[in-house]
Amino acid sequence: MTRSQTILITGASRGLGLALARDLAHRGWTLLLDARGEEALEAARAELAHSTRVVALAGDVTDSWHREALVAAARELGGLDAIVNNASALGTSPLPPLLNYSLDGLEGVFRTNVVAPLALLQSLRGELKPGARILNITSDAGVEAYPGWGGYGASKAALEQLSHVLAAEQPDWRVYWVDPGDMRTQMHQEAYPGEDISDRPLPEVSVPGLVELLTGDLPSGRYQARDLPQSAAQPADAAQAGGVKELRLALTVEDFDAALALYRDGLGLPTLHDWTDSETGRSIVLAAGVGTIELLDRADAAYTDSIESPAQAAGPVRLALEAASVDEASSRLQAHGAEPLGEVVHTSWSTRSQRLRTPDGLHISLYQPDPGHSAGD
Ligand SMILES: NC(=O)c1ccc[n+]([C@@H]2O[C@H](COP(=O)([O-])OP(=O)(O)OC[C@H]3O[C@@H](n4cnc5c(N)ncnc54)[C@H](OP(=O)(O)O)[C@@H]3O)[C@@H](O)[C@H]2O)c1
Repeated sequence: MTRSQTILITGASRGLGLALARDLAHRGWTLLLDARGEEALEAARAELAHSTRVVALAGDVTDSWHREALVAAARELGGLDAIVNNASALGTSPLPPLLNYSLDGLEGVFRTNVVAPLALLQSLRGELKPGARILNITSDAGVEAYPGWGGYGASKAALEQLSHVLAAEQPDWRVYWVDPGDMRTQMHQEAYPGEDISDRPLPEVSVPGLVELLTGDLPSGRYQARDLPQSAAQPADAAQAGGVKELRLALTVEDFDAALALYRDGLGLPTLHDWTDSETGRSIVLAAGVGTIELLDRADAAYTDSIESPAQAAGPVRLALEAASVDEASSRLQAHGAEPLGEVVHTSWSTRSQRLRTPDGLHISLYQPDPGHSAGD
């Protein structure tokens, strides 16, 4: 049994910060979280508190009083094993060309994205445990020249260089500067106002790479979250489970709202993934320890069947198993009598999946994250 680890994640009320907090909560990490909006932060705290110890402080990372409150909370928690500087400002939207960029606005972007992360590290240095890990969330906009992205991109470039020098100055820490890749979040929508961004992967797809940096043995440096090997990102017992990483019991339900009330509100299961506003049908994944329950309405179940098993519907219960390799797991299942009901497909929800039927008729969806593909690829 390893001791519980403690982490500060800034900007954890939604998007990538919340997705990372959810993952670490299920691993038993103690969480210190912030964001400016109190309501959303409290909702996140209440959800995560079902799984772990959470301290959530509303405030702006650019405010020194708020940073001091985070220091006091970190001390109260017995120190930090890791800090994730994730809170970030996009700047003006729509993104203006540099020659029209408000200089006050630019200063604001740099205050949040560059000065505040360093200020936090300066304030928290005394609370960091030996070998602490620092993750500074940057962006490809910090290294590529995308028109309109000059203000935000320059701030991320500055954060990258600051991280690089910090890694050289503090060899006892692991300092990572990490590009999470495009993600379907509020910030991304603000960068593309009025555009359909539903083909971008959810932030959960970038989380295993961040977990690898927090739990693995990689040296300080620049990483792309979705390119990282994910050996250490697996739950500790995955190796003993034949390579299967998650059991997701996918239940097709007649009355979605009643089922939501029963499982989420009645049992108090925290929401892990929420697709209840999808155009193809409603579904939601609730955390349930090492397993999860996915509730789908008939439309969403029919849509999933149409992709994975066009000739045969799953019925009310289907096992959905995340595997390290769909192909290998499929071969193993077929060797034991399972029958494939379709080819391996790239799904619009960013997985490689294959549906199989067991000899006694139960459908199994094997899936693995597939961030390189999304709808239309
Ligand atoms: N989304 C993408 O495609 C993408 C691509 C590359 C890199 N990134 C980077 O990934 C990270 C996460 O972005 P995201 O897309 O998840 O953004 P998001 O959904 O907009 O979430 C940002 C989070 O940070 C909080 N926040 C913003 N400013 C803050 C401040 N000054 N003080 C404290 N909290 C603050 C927000 O809550 P409040 O607004 O309530 O404070 C929210 O919880 C950022 O560093 C971003 O630059 C994103």
